[in-house]
Amino acid sequence: MPGAEVTFSGVSYCYDASSSLRKLALDDIDLTVGDEGFTILCGRTGSGKSTLAQHMNALLTPTVGKITFPGGFVLDVPVRRRKDGSLKAPRRQRIRCWKELRKDVGLVFQFPEDQLFRRHVIEDVMVGPLNFGASEDEARRAAAEALAEVGLGESFFERSPFELSGGEKRRVALAGVFAFHPRMLVLDEPTVGLDPLGAKRVVECLRRKVASGVSVVLITHDMDLAYSLADRLIVMEAGKVVLDGKPWEVFQAGEIIHRAGLLPPKAFVYTRYLRSLGLDIDPAVARDAEGLAAELGRCIHG
Ligand SMILES: Nc1ncnc2c1ncn2[C@@H]1O[C@H](COP(=O)(O)OP(=O)(O)OP(=O)(O)O)[C@@H](O)[C@H]1O
Ligand SMILES: [Mg+2]
Repeated sequence: MPGAEVTFSGVSYCYDASSSLRKLALDDIDLTVGDEGFTILCGRTGSGKSTLAQHMNALLTPTVGKITFPGGFVLDVPVRRRKDGSLKAPRRQRIRCWKELRKDVGLVFQFPEDQLFRRHVIEDVMVGPLNFGASEDEARRAAAEALAEVGLGESFFERSPFELSGGEKRRVALAGVFAFHPRMLVLDEPTVGLDPLGAKRVVECLRRKVASGVSVVLITHDMDLAYSLADRLIVMEAGKVVLDGKPWEVFQAGEIIHRAGLLPPKAFVYTRYLRSLGLDIDPAVARDAEGLAAELGRCIHG
C-alpha cells in the first residue's frame, strides 16, 4: 500500500477571521508531509500544531492558500483582505470527494472525547469502515481487529465510550481510525494519558504501520519519543515552520530549539557529549537508551 502526501502552499489560517477577535494560527505555511515514514511535529503550546493537523484532512480549510491532498484533490483559497490589509474570512469551501479524502488521511484528535459519540465502543470503531462502504460484518471484523491492535479485547466492545478511563478513550479513538486503514495517519498527541506499556504498544503498532507503507504524522511534546521515532522532525513556532529536517540536525539549532520552548532529548545530549570526547557514536542509531548503549558498546569493544 503506497503512502500519501499532503502539500501546503502559502497556507494561512485565522480563527474567527471575520471578527475583531481573529487569531492567526497558521502563517504562510509551505510544506509537504507524508511519504517519509514518521514525521514528527513539535513546538510550544499554541504554536499551531493541531490547527495544521486539522488541515491535513480538511477538517479545517485555509483562510488563504492551497492544499493538495492524496488522490490529487486541491483546495485553493484566494486571498481576501480588508482595507486595513488584514485577512478576511474566505468564502465557504465546497469539498468534493471528502469521503475519499477522509479515507486517505485518518486524523486522531488531541482530545479523544471529540471523536467518540456512539453508545458502545464497538459501534464507535465501526463508524469509519461503515462510512467507507464496508458491510456490517466487515465493519465489525475491522473494528475488532483495530481494538485488538490497541490492546482492547472483547470485554470492552459493549461498554460506553463515555465510561472509560482517559487512556482507554484514547485507545478507542486510535482504533476508530486504524479500522479503516488510511494511507496517512495524523495523530495529535496519541500517547498522552497512556501508561508506559500502553504507550509502547501504540508506538510499536505505529512502527508496523510505517513498515507497511503508511505515512505517519505525529504531534508530541515528548522530545525523547520524537527523537527516537522521527525520520523527519518539524518544529513550529507562532504558526510558522521554524525547523525541518533529520532529528540530529534539527536539535543542533540549540538557540531556535530553546526559543521554540523545547528541550533537547536525552539521547541527543548524551550523543553530543560522547562525540565531543572523541567517541564515534552514530546519531542515526543512538536515538534512544538502547541505541545509545549499542553504540557505546561498539565504540568501546569494537
Ligand atoms: N477554536 C479556537 N478559536 C480561537 N483560537 C483558537 C482556537 N483553537 C486554537 N486557537 C488558537 O490558535 C493557536 C494555535 O492553536 P493550536 O491548538 O493549533 O496549538 P497547538 O500547537 O496544537 O497547542 P498545544 O500544544 O497546546 O496543543 C493558539 O494561539 C490558540 O490559542
Ligand atoms: Mg494541540
